[in-house]
Amino acid sequence: MFFTKYPHPANFAFAQKLPANSGSVSIGEISLGLSIDHHGENISRLTLSGPWPENLSLTDIIAPEKTSCGPAQLDSSNLELRLSNGNTLLDLVPQQGLGINGRRWIMQFRVPDGARYYGMGEKNFGEIELSGYRTVFWNTDVWSDFHWGQWGGNPTDPSYFSTPYILVKCADKGYVGILVHNPSPVFMETPGKDDSRVFVEWQRTSEHLTIGAYDGQPDLWIITGHTAAEVTQRVNQLVGVTPTPPLWSLGFHQSRWGYGGEKDLFDLDDNFNNEKIPCSGLWLDLDYMDGFRIFQTSNEMFPNGVQPVADKLAKSGRRIVPIIDPGVKFEPGYRVYDDGNKQDVFCKNPVGNEFIGLVWPGETVFPDFTKRSVWDWWRGYTKEFRESGFGACWVDMNDPSTGPVDPNDMLFDDGKTSHAEHRNQYALGMQIATHKGFLDAKPNERPFILSRSGFIGSSQYSAIWTGDNCSNDFYLKLSITTSIGMAFSGHVFNGPDVGGFGGDSSPELMTRWQQACFLFPFCRNHSTAGTRNQEPFAYEGAAKNNIAHYIRLRYKFLPYLYSLFAQHEETGAPILRPLFYEFESGGLDEVCDQFLVGSGILQAPIIEARGKERDVVLPGNEPWWHSSTGDWREPGTMSLQVPMKNTPLFFRAGAIVPMQKHLPSTTEIDLLNPRILITAPKGWKGETQFEFVADDGISFDYRDGKRSKLLITAKGDGKALHITADHTATGFGEVTPEFTVVEHVPVTVNGQAATLQPSVIRLTGRADTVFNVTL
Ligand code: NOJ
Repeated sequence: MFFTKYPHPANFAFAQKLPANSGSVSIGEISLGLSIDHHGENISRLTLSGPWPENLSLTDIIAPEKTSCGPAQLDSSNLELRLSNGNTLLDLVPQQGLGINGRRWIMQFRVPDGARYYGMGEKNFGEIELSGYRTVFWNTDVWSDFHWGQWGGNPTDPSYFSTPYILVKCADKGYVGILVHNPSPVFMETPGKDDSRVFVEWQRTSEHLTIGAYDGQPDLWIITGHTAAEVTQRVNQLVGVTPTPPLWSLGFHQSRWGYGGEKDLFDLDDNFNNEKIPCSGLWLDLDYMDGFRIFQTSNEMFPNGVQPVADKLAKSGRRIVPIIDPGVKFEPGYRVYDDGNKQDVFCKNPVGNEFIGLVWPGETVFPDFTKRSVWDWWRGYTKEFRESGFGACWVDMNDPSTGPVDPNDMLFDDGKTSHAEHRNQYALGMQIATHKGFLDAKPNERPFILSRSGFIGSSQYSAIWTGDNCSNDFYLKLSITTSIGMAFSGHVFNGPDVGGFGGDSSPELMTRWQQACFLFPFCRNHSTAGTRNQEPFAYEGAAKNNIAHYIRLRYKFLPYLYSLFAQHEETGAPILRPLFYEFESGGLDEVCDQFLVGSGILQAPIIEARGKERDVVLPGNEPWWHSSTGDWREPGTMSLQVPMKNTPLFFRAGAIVPMQKHLPSTTEIDLLNPRILITAPKGWKGETQFEFVADDGISFDYRDGKRSKLLITAKGDGKALHITADHTATGFGEVTPEFTVVEHVPVTVNGQAATLQPSVIRLTGRADTVFNVTL
């Protein structure tokens, strides 16, 4: 299979008629079983049985109870996808709707005029709206599978992580998401909305929405809703929400290919302490290992063992996060190889031997992560690894990368299953097995794992970084669209290598990148060996100060981010959102360089290293508080001058944003005593709510009620701002909030008149005057 080519419908045979109910479908001589189940009025599942083995996915979809009715309906012998109000959103193209070609299958849907497309997981197209694309879902090792001339500053596709999911906005009728739960490579083709990508006629994509796969049982989840938000929350819940991460993992992380062990870690610790820059994770790339042998730490790098180093770093609130690759050095005598060989855990090649790839250690074998018995083998090593003092782990190269060796010779399940049938979920198996080992070591501690590749369900086990990027404007801009695509497709906990991995990050680029991503769900500075150092203190003067300021500001807003993650666990709502997630007005899906963090904050970062001005779109019909200038801006489009120390950050009318009281210079976070910023303009009429949570930030005790929740309401009646704060849970103790408002208006707190004390706050520009509320 070529992952840059796409099957054509003309090469398939199609069913001429579908059954009136679940039943069988004939395509020529072949008969397929078709079944449709419903899981509430907005979720249906369609499966076909035929020449495929049963769905090989390692993920269980978390579906609501079965019901008798749902959006996928067989009517007049065709398949229609309908909204709960009866509107037909999509239907299959008559006589050309469902086709097969051996074990390949295809479906073609008719779409309404003006349909728009979103999601598709980790795609590097640089756009949020995805009309007019052909794509395959095949986990790649981008820098190895494409020539550098392609990835240096242009979109490459496919990328590391596959989520075969598309969200369709069916003009003004509603939204439908289609999730193809199939680990084999899936392909999709979306109708174009104009001719901008059509240079020759054959580049024009089909007028239909095409979805198919090279193999694997057709198993489609159809999810409908009136808004993008409704469907996104539903799909995020189906694939499994991300459990509230450990609080420290939401801090800032420093990584670099080249940090080796004790000495580098202590130097980093000293530098962050001296510069008063908080940093929660110090990351080790390949050099901490003994000759690229996984689970074998170099004595030279850790002459005193790992635990004493971890203990010292813990005093500054930092953890060590080393890399682990799936590839095991093929070296008889090396304990991990010998043990794996003895227990027969490695993938086989077509002639029945262990499959050999060429990765960092040279000849390398690969655990078969599609087998549950292999998870048990691997978890023993990750248990030991966690117990040795490492605080978390970074699972890399799990696309899986086989270097220059053709991966198709890597078979699964004792050589019985082809590479393609499992490839996209190889990383998922590695994440699950690693996660299990961490829990074995520390049963009441939330594991933190970062992975490069992944599949449907990875959200339950691992954060994702979006792989190797470069220090240039193209990748800075891509950070936003790729992260939002993932958040819309089931994986909210993600972020790029801030500053760029390949190439040198200039002071301006590093500053602009840190500003753009300072509120991203995951925030790590990482760079490759041989490039200039990229730590905040590797820069001087204003650049260093600005980078440090935005890292501290992340820690200031961590209470907000943490609550958003807790809300995600309950509702599926993403952390990072495109503007149209909250505001339904035309044209917002074209906005690819702005985003919302939760519902309260809008960011419009500068995405050109040398940029000093930009246009900003403020959506909705209420004004926004501009934290760089402290004034209110009416909705609409405006041009802003943005000096290097500023980034355009706007707070919505009625935004409720929990913060730490001070601008932190350490990793300490006090969740029980937050300061809640409420931004409401004079004369505001409206009501907003935010559920703030506090717990120990590390254990699972919150699942047994040891979490406090404070429901904060802000209500403006045009004359005064009325704040109420109700504890809806106190399992972690009482939360004692203090409030800050940005306007001098009469304020009541829980019905009592309050007084306002002027104060200053410096967020994203000059210091603003705000008012602390006292009773
Ligand atoms: C590839 C990863 O994407 C990168 O982040 C890492 O630094 C290198 N492997 C070396 O381990």
